[in-house]
Amino acid sequence: MSKLWSGRFSADTAKEVQNFTESISWDWQLYRYDIQGSIAHAGGLRRAKILTAQEYKKIVAGLKSIERDIAQGKFEFNTALEDIHMHIEAALTARIGAAAQKLHTGRSRNDQVATDVRLYLKDKLILLSGQLSVFCTALLAQAEKHQTIILPGLTHLQIAQPVLLAHHILAYVEMFLRDRQRLADLYSRVDVMPLGSAALAGAAYPLDRRAVAKELDFAVISENSLDAVSDRDFLVEFQSAAAILMLHLSRLSEELILWNSAQFDYVELADSYTTGSSIMPQKKNPDIPELTRGKTGRVIGNLINILTVLKGLPLAYNRDLQEDKQPLFDTVKTVFDCLQVLTGLWRTIQFKPAKMAAAAAKGFATATDLADYLVRRNIPFREAHAITGRIVHYAIEQGKALDGLTLPEYQRFSPQIAKDIYKAISLAGSIQSRQIYGGTAPAQVAAALERARKRI
Ligand code: ARG
Repeated sequence: MSKLWSGRFSADTAKEVQNFTESISWDWQLYRYDIQGSIAHAGGLRRAKILTAQEYKKIVAGLKSIERDIAQGKFEFNTALEDIHMHIEAALTARIGAAAQKLHTGRSRNDQVATDVRLYLKDKLILLSGQLSVFCTALLAQAEKHQTIILPGLTHLQIAQPVLLAHHILAYVEMFLRDRQRLADLYSRVDVMPLGSAALAGAAYPLDRRAVAKELDFAVISENSLDAVSDRDFLVEFQSAAAILMLHLSRLSEELILWNSAQFDYVELADSYTTGSSIMPQKKNPDIPELTRGKTGRVIGNLINILTVLKGLPLAYNRDLQEDKQPLFDTVKTVFDCLQVLTGLWRTIQFKPAKMAAAAAKGFATATDLADYLVRRNIPFREAHAITGRIVHYAIEQGKALDGLTLPEYQRFSPQIAKDIYKAISLAGSIQSRQIYGGTAPAQVAAALERARKRI
């Protein structure tokens, strides 16, 4: 097949070179954005009187018919035509003839592909941020449903202090709302139109770039043509925000895997969101969180990928930049799929409050509350900490929990301790005492739920 750029060549491209350089295998996904960009560019050419009204109309109709055919799977892709831009231009020429030959005036694939990728990502940012909201809503619904369940909060994976399950879930909502904010922040740096930069030096035609940007719904136009065709910072930002988001999904997944183990036994995952083992009939495996944790590696890899592609590039466009798309498409799909399937999993998860409370009752989770009790009786915190340490040591020796010690036993360590100690060191008493903005007291958590609902 003769190439659109074959003029200065006297020999055909070697087959292996064709296979090595093509990108149509994956960049066909940009077809909608490529056509959108071409229609707007044609509008610019029309206004600059490079296209007649008639030619413009033919181009637009031709591009729309190509879009329909691709959408319906009726379009044939061929590696000889390299990429999506060449495919669409060749098809347009086949369909409408001469007018199509004028479309690439004042444009290069360099500003074209940069425009396509930005249009694509703007769309996907809205999609992903919507999916994040859906996911947060599923998390919030579980938190609202379980406002009285207590579980042990951990540090070093050791029992630390009791917290409300709703408080624990809301910690993740915070992470995901930050992720949504990050996507919104970077949107403005994606929302810049490169068209008019042409190959690298700017178009040699009086194209009204602002009018084209308006038609494509770009907020601003790029300032510098060299930068516009070689800038992929916005992909680094996106990959970075996506990697952080996956990191959060992975941490949540890790907790679900632990909670689902026989050792923790805090949750029951729905049959429809788990899988079995081919050899061990008793198994019900948490494959969704495990795969999410695993796929996090891919997305972090995609961030390193784009950073490494960009790090040694001189201005302006270099073919290396073609390598930006596979990791981009992969990240978009991976993040979307993980969010979607984890939303289903969260909607169907069952919690086991008795198991959580039993775990919270172990491990001296309210030892800090005992120290705080002594502080309220005018003992300096450091001293209270030491007394409590001695009590815990004694309780361990006796094989007792804190609430298993008698009052005379307590008073041996401090005469300040009275009967009300038992309330102070109960799980409910401990939770109740964390009456501070951002703390786990029921009233604070109820208010936090209310605020989170509004923010989502
Ligand atoms: N397929 C190319 C890419 O994805 C399009 C731009 C090619 N430009 C060029 N001068 N070879 O980056």
